[in-house]
Amino acid sequence: MNSPVMQGLALNTPSHVKNARLVAWVADMAALCQPDHIVWCDGSDEEYARLCQQLVDAGTMKRLNPVKRPNSFLACSDPSDVARVEDRTFICSEKQEDAGPTNNWKAPAEMRATLQPLFEGCMRGRTMYVIPFSMGPLGSPIAHIGVELSDSAYVAVNMKLMTRMGKAVFDVLGTDGEFVPCVHTVGAPLAEGEKDQNAWPCNPTTKYIVHYPETREIWSYGSGYGGNALLGKKCFALRIASTMGKQQGWLAEHMLILGVTNPEGRKYHVAAAFPSACGKTNFAMLIPPKGFEGWKVTTIGDDIAWIKPHADGRLYAINPEAGYFGVAPGTNSLTNPNCMASLDRDVIFTNVALTDDGDVWWEGMSEAPAHAIDWQGKDWTPQIAKETGAKAAHPNARFTVAATNNPALDPAWDDPAGVPIDAFIFGGRRSTTVPLVTEARNWTEGVYMAATMGSETTAAAFGAQGVVRRDPFAMLPFTGYNMSDYFQHWLDLGQKLASQGAKLPGIFCVNWFRKDEAGKFVWPGFGENMRVLKWMIDRLEGRAQQGTEHAFGVSPRYEDIQWNGLEFSAEQYRTVTHIDRAAWAKEMELHGELFTQLAHHLPQELQDTKAQIEKRLAA
Ligand code: GTP
Ligand code: SPV
Ligand code: MN
Repeated sequence: MNSPVMQGLALNTPSHVKNARLVAWVADMAALCQPDHIVWCDGSDEEYARLCQQLVDAGTMKRLNPVKRPNSFLACSDPSDVARVEDRTFICSEKQEDAGPTNNWKAPAEMRATLQPLFEGCMRGRTMYVIPFSMGPLGSPIAHIGVELSDSAYVAVNMKLMTRMGKAVFDVLGTDGEFVPCVHTVGAPLAEGEKDQNAWPCNPTTKYIVHYPETREIWSYGSGYGGNALLGKKCFALRIASTMGKQQGWLAEHMLILGVTNPEGRKYHVAAAFPSACGKTNFAMLIPPKGFEGWKVTTIGDDIAWIKPHADGRLYAINPEAGYFGVAPGTNSLTNPNCMASLDRDVIFTNVALTDDGDVWWEGMSEAPAHAIDWQGKDWTPQIAKETGAKAAHPNARFTVAATNNPALDPAWDDPAGVPIDAFIFGGRRSTTVPLVTEARNWTEGVYMAATMGSETTAAAFGAQGVVRRDPFAMLPFTGYNMSDYFQHWLDLGQKLASQGAKLPGIFCVNWFRKDEAGKFVWPGFGENMRVLKWMIDRLEGRAQQGTEHAFGVSPRYEDIQWNGLEFSAEQYRTVTHIDRAAWAKEMELHGELFTQLAHHLPQELQDTKAQIEKRLAA
């Protein structure tokens, strides 16, 4: 193979980069991908401004009205590249059973043979950005470093907002520090002298999101969007990190982390796993409603938690990210005022609509503008929407913003030690069957509830939407190893903590999404979710009434919830909490199907728990 230097390409390695493995890897990848230029990102504000301007000049981003939305941009993607591609995502462990039945698997050698010709020359005519980043506070014992090579400047600027990105990472890496190598290309090389015709280059037909867990490598081809391309997020912080956690005794989870302080001033920390586009960002930024004076909620993270057992016997969590890549549609100043305030300035919006005054709009944000340019660049009016169903914003339109923009940011969000977790919450999107809230009576029952969680699919992933599927721990697309081994890891961790005499976090299961016969959500949700959170905190303190004990746990009665400030009748409450025996018989069949699929290594305790629930349901 020609070395890039031989081809006349300068590696431009900055003098402060002293990690020999890194330099050698960049040289190898440059020789393989054959970019025209290499840029080592320093993470500075100047660099961010320069790359944003470059993206504006290339037509990838538009600068928004600087009065209405200072220092903010809109990027619109290729219509073929709007969400994660789960069917193109692979876990390439040596043994297929280590990827397990829920992951797409290819043998590493076979996958490497497939990718080699695709990556050869894949960056021709483009610039390769070397993007060093830390997941977690720089130098924290819980943090880990990655370096992403990408031919997308859009990825580079997003990584600046989403991670601790820049020069200081090289200092932490030193001469022989470890990093996870992440290679990303949009898979759209240019011919000699060809000008890029695409504002959003990608490969419309060929996409591969590939993980090699044993060698801790990530290779991503063909997409420039979100979790497919910002490799620190789902690829590293969940898929690779979950395998690291399994080996090293910790957890990498698809969870928000929040702090909640009660009127007595006692503070608790809760980590909650909801599937993609099912309310993590909303819950993490919750503002307590009327009637909850004295309660306070603060955000540590909105998407990912790294959780490690501490010498004091408790679990401590950090948010490995430094920004939010959140769902825009449905977000407004009533449902999530903290989020809206976070978006006042310094934001990159992707696939929302552009208003005539140079601002952004999406469905559910506010009253519709009389005219806008939709995410595909077409004229959009409420009339057109009515006639054709055209959406101004793509349903998976997102914003990228630094965590420091969030007015509810917890003072400990950046603490290298993390925060102690008092409770875990698991919640799917279910229009029927699953009640508003259930407390597990013990760790195993909690793991069972999380493992068997179902949720209706959303626009966050390419494919059919609104279909109920099992999404264990909200980790179906993100567990980097065998799902049954993952269940076992959770059970083992609980047992280990309990054997040390620690009080285990409580485990709760929620569903904000039950609908009535007319198809309307019955539970008001958003800030009103505080009412459920309060019941949980009171339970942790041993104050709240247990309520009713039923087949799979404990739920509050109507009178166990604090209602002041909200009109919500006992009948409405019944609609969101009723346990329908026939529906649950069907639900248990679906649990059974999941367990059949996961039979290899499925923990016996979960089978036993299922049998006990079925017995109680039949009684
Ligand atoms: P990812 O970033 O994809 O992992 O998703 P997320 O879980 O952070 O999703 P997010 O909080 O952005 O929620 C996405 C959608 O859920 C939006 O359309 C919200 O309007 C809706 N949503 C959030 N909370 C609630 C709630 O309490 N009730 C109802 N009905 N909808 C909600
Ligand atoms: C999710 O889909 O869960 C996300 C968005 O958080 S993405 O980063 O695109 O995966
Ligand atoms: Mn997510």
